[in-house]
Amino acid sequence: MDEMKKRETLILEWMKELGKDIVKNKDEAMEIEEKTSFNDLVTNMDKSVEKELTSRIRENFPTDRIVGEEGYGDDVDTLDGTIWFLDPIDGTLNFVKQRENFALMVGVFVDGVGELAAVYDVMRDKLYSARKGDGIRCNGQTLEKPESLPLSEGLLATSSVLMVNEENAYVRELGRQSMGVRALGSAGLEVVEVAKGNVVAYMARNLKPWDIAPGVVFMEELGMKATQFDGSELDMLSSNHAVFGTEPAHKEIVNSHNSQ
Ligand code: IPD
Ligand code: CA
Ligand code: CA
Repeated sequence: MDEMKKRETLILEWMKELGKDIVKNKDEAMEIEEKTSFNDLVTNMDKSVEKELTSRIRENFPTDRIVGEEGYGDDVDTLDGTIWFLDPIDGTLNFVKQRENFALMVGVFVDGVGELAAVYDVMRDKLYSARKGDGIRCNGQTLEKPESLPLSEGLLATSSVLMVNEENAYVRELGRQSMGVRALGSAGLEVVEVAKGNVVAYMARNLKPWDIAPGVVFMEELGMKATQFDGSELDMLSSNHAVFGTEPAHKEIVNSHNSQ
């Protein structure tokens, strides 16, 4: 089996297995800590999932490097070679407050190019995955490319922070131009919504490489757009104000951002 195929097979197995553990333990008391503020949380589950993934990756692919949200990975400052981006639980606030609407996320990049992606919507048991050149699947079933609709013919997903901040008046105007605004609270699941055609775009500030890695691969596979708000390339070593969407909706958002 080639190495990338082995990575793909293992990712899908690991996600399902770790997801089952989360479901089994989700009603147990959680250890919750604040990171940078009262609504930036980490739980014992975020940590144990990342620890487990990190040790399995190191055992199977010792020369690969790992960028993990909770800090169990490596110090990475170049995109050379094979890099795994891990977000053990995307949507931790949802995990804590709702016990649903969160996802396990993995993206694998080689020399800066997205090769593999997986987003596991644990509570709905839906595993979205992609391998470069092979399209996106949900539990193994290929997803069709959605219709390329503009904002006026679709919904806009965004983060609640971006929508409520006074200085982001242009985002509220974009919301008014769309048929409606949605905020799910998991960057990974929101890009899945774009990939499925449930929303025409998703935009959010300060997304980290592990928040966007799978989405970058998904958009590429569907011929959709993923850039910074100003239209420039996403940076997989830094924070990004990122927009994912159909070509027309993405263009409307970038133009509106650039003409503020
Ligand atoms: C967060 C979620 C959220 C987004 C934040 C992310 P986390 O990830 O994806 O929707 O608005 O910027 O940090 O912290 O739950 O993994
Ligand atoms: Ca995240
Ligand atoms: Ca997380």
